[in-house]
Amino acid sequence: MTKKVFSAMRPTGKLHLGHLLGALKSWAQLQGDYSCIFSIADWHALMSEYENSRELRTYGVEMAVDWMACGIDPRKSVIYLQSDVVEHLELQMFLSCLTPLGWLERNPTYKEQLREITARDLQTYAFLGYPVLQAADILLYKADGVPIGEDQLPHLELCREIARRFNSIYKKEVFSDCKAILTETPRLLGTDNRKMSKSYGNTINLSDTEKDVEKKAVSMITDPRRIKMSDPGHPEECNVYSYYKVFAPQEAAGCYEWCSRALKGCVDCKKNLSRHINKTLAPIREKRAQLEKDKDAVNDILKEGALKARGMAQKTIAQVKDAVFG
Ligand code: TRP
Ligand code: SF4
Repeated sequence: MTKKVFSAMRPTGKLHLGHLLGALKSWAQLQGDYSCIFSIADWHALMSEYENSRELRTYGVEMAVDWMACGIDPRKSVIYLQSDVVEHLELQMFLSCLTPLGWLERNPTYKEQLREITARDLQTYAFLGYPVLQAADILLYKADGVPIGEDQLPHLELCREIARRFNSIYKKEVFSDCKAILTETPRLLGTDNRKMSKSYGNTINLSDTEKDVEKKAVSMITDPRRIKMSDPGHPEECNVYSYYKVFAPQEAAGCYEWCSRALKGCVDCKKNLSRHINKTLAPIREKRAQLEKDKDAVNDILKEGALKARGMAQKTIAQVKDAVFG
């Protein structure tokens, strides 16, 4: 049987180059070898955005558009909104009952987010249980592989522990082991050299126009030691050069040369980079524009995805109920 892959993203805003390189490219490839289920995790988003909940639907549909524009194909994969599949919550409840509080309180991601995210009150009952819902997502479809970034590894480990505890308490192998599929991608920093993140306003978005991309590229921070054009630069210390390696590998050596020998100015170098980014984004933009024209079709795809997902989910729930209640 074809192995199953499950992954999800929270619809909290526009997708950017980091999502493309860190996740969507590899998701699109996995579709060739696995039967894939990709979930728009709006319940997870609601855990932190419960006060801005009205935006989640729009972001969710936009996210589906971005996914499909990047090659996630609804004819190959199941794409749906998590909140359309109520079975997630049902399994979450079964798992919540047997998840020790200590496991959740010790979760490093949880502690870090409480410390770092101060704009919203995350001291809630649901947020502590974030990884339990994530475990329910994965286990509901009995996924074999979960493509995630390294930051999500503690959550996947918790998922495996919860699955083992379930099997051991109810003496039935309902859940088998799932493995992380780590996406090894060059980490792209934002235009200001900090981590690329919506909250820093330093992203280049998949929905940006050519002009936006050029403007943002030209605003990128460069080698601080290169003050005048005649100063030789240090490409290894410049974020722009790392973008060349990703978006124009065939020109990276050229960039190294013109930078370190002071043959080209930084503005030129960045304008040229923006052309390459735009070349990468052009087909995505085109597909995006097509999909944008027919939002009803996108909504239909999500509804159909939810039906398929529910079909699978209900089988698991039946097994879970059988194991728990007998
Ligand atoms: N927590 C993940 C993130 O923030 C999103 C997510 C929700 C997820 N459920 C999942 C990822 C299940 C993988 C599997 O990126
Ligand atoms: Fe960076 Fe390009 Fe300027 Fe060199 S020339 S410092 S790589 S922007």
